[in-house]
Amino acid sequence: MLTFYKFALSNKINLFGLMATLFIGQNKVFLPETDSTNSYAISLLKNVNCIEGTVVLTNNQTKGRGQRGNSWKADPSMNITLSLILKPGFLSSKKAFFLSKITALALYDVLTDILNESQFDIKIKWPNDILVNGKKIAGVLIENSVIDESLGWSVVGIGLNVNQTLFGALAETATSFTLLTGKTESIETISEKLYSYFEKWYLKLKQDKFNEINAAYLNHLFGINRLQNFKQNSINFKGTIKDVNEQGLLIVQLENGIEKSFEIKEISLVI
Ligand code: BTN
Repeated sequence: MLTFYKFALSNKINLFGLMATLFIGQNKVFLPETDSTNSYAISLLKNVNCIEGTVVLTNNQTKGRGQRGNSWKADPSMNITLSLILKPGFLSSKKAFFLSKITALALYDVLTDILNESQFDIKIKWPNDILVNGKKIAGVLIENSVIDESLGWSVVGIGLNVNQTLFGALAETATSFTLLTGKTESIETISEKLYSYFEKWYLKLKQDKFNEINAAYLNHLFGINRLQNFKQNSINFKGTIKDVNEQGLLIVQLENGIEKSFEIKEISLVI
């Protein structure tokens, strides 16, 4: 069943006592179960005239999609699995990676809002994974349409582990709020925080605040300016992350001093 609903706004505070957003999360499509919120959002965009900021969310995502063709698994009713629908016509397709940067920054803000920063090491792992104490708590899959070299629509898919405690084969590399704090957290409250922080960064992007976004992203980037281990086609090598350019390429200084840029598909960072 498809449920569209709107939250009533009382001045600037929403039902959760948080800053109300202007448009992100003002319209919600809640699905008790769906294969992938990203796939559902894309079919909505192709079939109905949905407004910017609409969120597609589910309690049970059965075929969640991840980066590099991977799957994203989340236990039912334990985690955030949602997709934000955007119409970033103001953004050139060459600058599409800024959407990845602001999504990572919004997630970073949510984590620092909830977790005590002095106790937890919160980092963005290129391109836009979020790590806490070296383990992944959130992943992002962004899918775009391009019209005349600008973005037509974008679907920002976010998986954020909240109350799940068992990760099976991923136990060594995945974490959640509950595993970190020992407490059960409210999925709704965290989602509302996410809408609010995402909107803050999206409005900065709309105002062309590229330098501010770049600086914040690099400031929280895992491994920046430190020698790291990388893997390319099963070959390991060492290098120092220097930057992430406008196209989202990772700029790495190799041990011989030469700087090389890498695409997401080309290399992975070995933690
Ligand atoms: C990754 O780290 O590989 C990206 C994972 C993205 C998962 C989210 S969950 C909500 C949205 N719908 C999907 O099918 N994928 C994204």
